[in-house]
Amino acid sequence: MNFPANQVYPVIWHNNSVLLIDQTRLPSEYALVEIHRSEDMAQAIKTMIVRGAPAIGVAAAYGMYLGAREIDTPNRDQFLAHLEQVAQMLRSTRPTAVNLFWAISRMIKTAYETLGTVAEIKQTLLQTAQTINSEDLQTCQAIGDNGLAVLPTTPEQLTILTHCNAGALATAGYGTALGVVRSAFREGRLARVFADETRPRLQGAKLTAWECIQEGIPVTVITDSMAAHCMKQGLIDAVVVGADRVAANGDAANKIGTYSLALVAKAHNIPFFVAAPLSTVDFTLQDGSQIPIEERNPEEIYKIGDTILTPDGVEFYNPAFDVTPANLIKAIITENGAFAPGELAKGVKNEKGVGGRV
Ligand code: MRU
Repeated sequence: MNFPANQVYPVIWHNNSVLLIDQTRLPSEYALVEIHRSEDMAQAIKTMIVRGAPAIGVAAAYGMYLGAREIDTPNRDQFLAHLEQVAQMLRSTRPTAVNLFWAISRMIKTAYETLGTVAEIKQTLLQTAQTINSEDLQTCQAIGDNGLAVLPTTPEQLTILTHCNAGALATAGYGTALGVVRSAFREGRLARVFADETRPRLQGAKLTAWECIQEGIPVTVITDSMAAHCMKQGLIDAVVVGADRVAANGDAANKIGTYSLALVAKAHNIPFFVAAPLSTVDFTLQDGSQIPIEERNPEEIYKIGDTILTPDGVEFYNPAFDVTPANLIKAIITENGAFAPGELAKGVKNEKGVGGRV
């Protein structure tokens, strides 16, 4: 794949291995991690070296190929049985983002549908992982551009608040929510991004801010608790966030803190948008109550570097995501255009939403 040199790509196929930008080290250090084995890819997803729903889908697809490459048998049935084990290992890394499961299923389906030798199946799996990667990049660019059709038309230049990192780092490149921001910036329609810090892992302060700085996009970092105040001050024109899994009714799971942001946006009459590829929609789930929510290590709350913040004896609860009800979402911006949350099925049927070019 030929990528323009000045953009951020968190997952790259290079010299028969996968290069990941180590997102646990940004912004203080830009480092690449070389992944050769499926187990190492699973570990990189678990430890959030690579993170963000579409990016972990792309990483898992390459992980499936790396796993396939490790299987040493010419026997098709034995190969497929082993590949199922690789799939199971990768599926067990993180539970909420459906793109992970979607990409693994697509790889498994490809393996079963490819006729020919095991060597030919392996080759097709590599091509499919590369296709998933390049499709996601195009999808994000379409999401970004489709967002322009639904953003408020006044003021001429908007201040957009976003949460977590739904940028190039969280996708194959360009981003979903930050894709909308990038497209608005390109068109001269962006005054500034407000990036929620995003406790506890600080994806907004560390990653969103870093991406914006790379491209000269004006960015202001605030702590999560400042969002309502900023809205009341008239500083925010729209909120755009990403999603990890959207249920059939439009309820959307995203980084913890997104739900409270949607509530305060409603209270201040500020439009709240979710930007996500259609691969993030899980039509097997009727509503958001069925979305599995990952709980992470409490250390993320009580420890900063080597400093312990809390007294002994305290208990912790560390859900990594929450679900924003569809009624708080003005539109879901997809690669096929923007849809009202209850109308996502149209997008999957390739119908055109607002701003879409199907
Ligand atoms: O825990 P993370 O950092 O993987 O969570 C990421 C998010 O919640 C993003 O907003 C979401 O995956 C959308 S990324 C385009």
